[in-house]
Amino acid sequence: MSEQGVDRSKRQFLTTALTVVGAVGTGYIAVPFLSQMQPSTKAKAAGAPVEIDISKLETGQLIRAAWRGKPVWILNRPPAVLEILANNTAKLSDPSSQESEQPEYAKNEFRSIKPEIFIAVGLCTHLGCSPTFRPEIAPNDLGGDWKGGFFCPCHGSGFDLAGRVVSGVPAPTNLVVPPHRYITETRIIIGETNTEESA
Ligand code: FES
Repeated sequence: MSEQGVDRSKRQFLTTALTVVGAVGTGYIAVPFLSQMQPSTKAKAAGAPVEIDISKLETGQLIRAAWRGKPVWILNRPPAVLEILANNTAKLSDPSSQESEQPEYAKNEFRSIKPEIFIAVGLCTHLGCSPTFRPEIAPNDLGGDWKGGFFCPCHGSGFDLAGRVVSGVPAPTNLVVPPHRYITETRIIIGETNTEESA
């Protein structure tokens, strides 16, 4: 899928307005890719948790981070999207995420802790391409059944906005939801689970 598709999606949703937490928490700056000053690049590559500030994440907006060398998406889903997710499961391959990878606390219809905030590893579960964010309804190139989601340009796998794979595509399972926890209402740690919650 071309970048044109992403551009078109901006008509309905902002795609990325990225914030980075400064080393001493002095504020926010726009960068092309979310990064964190702590821990070090070497530690992150080895699997250290990363902290994400979502205080500026607007409804409909997707931001990107990196964890263990993989892209991680954080999406703020509007109520209309949650309604679609709750009511459009017939054409999904694994609608209740029985065969897919996510922590137990994200094994629900929205695949998240908070319904509106979706967090996923941004790699296709077929061969690892990075799907594009396509939140629009029924765009010309994806057809009338498309309710918004992520589309993998490599071999045409589609996922809804809970990362659930549609039936009949090469990707075998839903997008992976990484372990994560909230340390405040607007700060998330990717790569850790609350001790009282089972992963
Ligand atoms: S890698 Fe995504 S469909 Fe093949």
